[in-house]
Amino acid sequence: MSKVHVFDHPLIQHKLSIMRDKNTGNKQFRELLDEIAMLMVYEVARDLPTEDVEIETPICKTTVKMLSGKPIGIIPILRAGLGMVDGIINLIPNAKVGHIGLYRDPETLQPVEYYCKLPVDAEQRELFVVDPMLATGGSASAAIQFIKDRGCHNIRLVNLIAAPEGVQRIQRDHPDVNIYVAAMDEKLNDHGYIIPGLGDAGDRLFGTK
Ligand code: PRP
Ligand code: URA
Repeated sequence: MSKVHVFDHPLIQHKLSIMRDKNTGNKQFRELLDEIAMLMVYEVARDLPTEDVEIETPICKTTVKMLSGKPIGIIPILRAGLGMVDGIINLIPNAKVGHIGLYRDPETLQPVEYYCKLPVDAEQRELFVVDPMLATGGSASAAIQFIKDRGCHNIRLVNLIAAPEGVQRIQRDHPDVNIYVAAMDEKLNDHGYIIPGLGDAGDRLFGTK
């Protein structure tokens, strides 16, 4: 069963609270998402393996720790997932980025795919699928299935806000995928929006409404 990690760090919570406020404009919303993504990936990466490496400091030879596991891939779900990429790449500059284009049909709430471009060696990477919102879970589940169908199996899902419905959907469809969130919200409304949430993440990031 997927584990759910909730990051209740005061800095993350403070920044997220400003993002939720409807009076926060696009520029500040983008900057805060960028900052929170960076803070979150610090914790998401906590269990990455390291190995001992011999180096020489200006003073002497010594043994230090370096990352040793699979290289990282970041897979934003378009559009809103794009807002989390820069913050993560700041901390993991060698990560490759793959894109999956999905939008949620407003009537059926089903994900519709329109784009996919993954790193050629995606199946050899530890993949972080990123999207600020996990609502019904339909988009994230479809994106994960999509990359699994291409042979990828080391997958983590990183969301800003999740609804219980979305978490249950991922736990049912992808029990091998752990979920990392800044907040677990209460529920969905009749239109599939997260309550209290922050509204439409893509529109608030890109100013399209
Ligand atoms: C939003 C969000 C997720 C999806 C979550 O994207 O960024 O991808 O909805 O909803 P779900 O869990 O019910 O599938 P949206 O479809 O609005 O597309 P956008 O990012 O292009 O705005
Ligand atoms: N997508 C969003 O952007 N926000 C929600 O609350 C639900 C889905």
